[in-house]
Amino acid sequence: MAIDYAERIPNNVNLAENRRPQRALEQWQPGFQKWWAEMGPAGFQEREVYLRTATSVDAQGWASFGYVKMPDYRWGIFLAEAERDRTIAFGDHKGEPAWQEIPGEYRGALRRLIVTQGDTEPASVEQQRQLGRTSPSLYDLRNLFQVNVEEGRHLWAMVYLLHAYFGRDGREEADALLQRRSGNADNPRILGAFNEQTPDWLSFLMFTFFTDRDGKYQLASLAESAFDPLSRTCRFMLTEEAHHMFVGETGIGRVVQRTCELMKEHDTEEVGRYGGIDLKLMQKYLNFHYSVSLDLFGAELSTNAANYFSMGLKGRFNEQARDDDHQLKNSQYTITQVDDLRIVQKEQPALLALNETLRDAYIADCARGVGRWNKVIKTAGINFELTLPHRGFHRAIGDCAAVKVTPEGQIITEAEWDAHHGRWLPTEAEREFVGTLMKGATEPGKFAGWIAPPARGINHQGIDFEYVKLG
Ligand SMILES: [Fe+2]
Ligand SMILES: [Fe+2]
Repeated sequence: MAIDYAERIPNNVNLAENRRPQRALEQWQPGFQKWWAEMGPAGFQEREVYLRTATSVDAQGWASFGYVKMPDYRWGIFLAEAERDRTIAFGDHKGEPAWQEIPGEYRGALRRLIVTQGDTEPASVEQQRQLGRTSPSLYDLRNLFQVNVEEGRHLWAMVYLLHAYFGRDGREEADALLQRRSGNADNPRILGAFNEQTPDWLSFLMFTFFTDRDGKYQLASLAESAFDPLSRTCRFMLTEEAHHMFVGETGIGRVVQRTCELMKEHDTEEVGRYGGIDLKLMQKYLNFHYSVSLDLFGAELSTNAANYFSMGLKGRFNEQARDDDHQLKNSQYTITQVDDLRIVQKEQPALLALNETLRDAYIADCARGVGRWNKVIKTAGINFELTLPHRGFHRAIGDCAAVKVTPEGQIITEAEWDAHHGRWLPTEAEREFVGTLMKGATEPGKFAGWIAPPARGINHQGIDFEYVKLG
């Protein structure tokens, strides 16, 4: 079904003929707009931004580009096309037709999954709200705002499900999504990484690489869901998510490139005094963002994850491509655990190890991106490699949260950690230094000195295109 932009809430779910959710969403909309005004990007709300908006939901050509003021962005509800005769691919209901309504006994569990996903969307907008003023270029500023409006749309996507399928509980949860605040002591966002600060652009680019990538893996496993409306909405969200990870991967790649240029120009590894960010410091930021993102996958062994899988609510990444029985009642999976102060590999029931299974897919994906950054370093003729730290490093959730682990994977004492963690994670002084580099570049085609220009512009526009009209 085509997207109806004549509606107050653009949608391709035939909202006009679905009075109850339509009314609930229309009542929720002013609260969303108020939240956006208060917690969305600080400043720039009256500026014209070159944004893409969804015009259809097929993989090719779903986007139209044009100048929009952010408060006028057409947030709406877009589900990927229904797959005909779709059947459930895993769990106890494997082979049965996908559900268009939620079985009563699964409502609570499914609501929790949707709320947890939904909560991350406004959280990241809140985390990023101060970044506009220090953007390294208009190109990057536009990318930040594109990510922000799409996270806003992802919130709409989850709120639609709550309103359309969960009655009064759903409406209450939808309201609560607008009330929690990232980092707030009394009413924080649900997941840890979404209460961290995103104080500078290096953090933002790391966040979009590592934390938005967690989003990709969560959405991909929810896209396998037996509950067809959730599956379809996640499938469309994934197409938007790809741009967020592009921003992170190419963004960090450009910082790496600029650092390499400065290293060669000045024949030194310490490029800070020339306005660059040392590769060693980038490694520390990487260590931080990777480790807090690993926590998002949860504990290695989880009965919740097992139940979600058996119920058919949340599958594995690429569920259908996997060559097994898709029920996992008798399968084993090797996971990393702490045993008597040693890190060991252990066989565990695969059904209980689904968080770790998803984390493994994520880690492999991260490693591919880091490999591409290393290629930039190598091409520059510099002998240095960025690496992913050990999965036990700096964890707050899971087996390794109980111990201190070096990036190489050695368990150390609390005292050793206290003495050395400044070698592995950004220190206060280093964060402050990165802060001093963050001066906004506001002329078309101009870039801050710590980041290289991109290889090409957005939607075939030039790099010097006026992506945000500031004048
Ligand atoms: Fe999102
Ligand atoms: Fe995202």
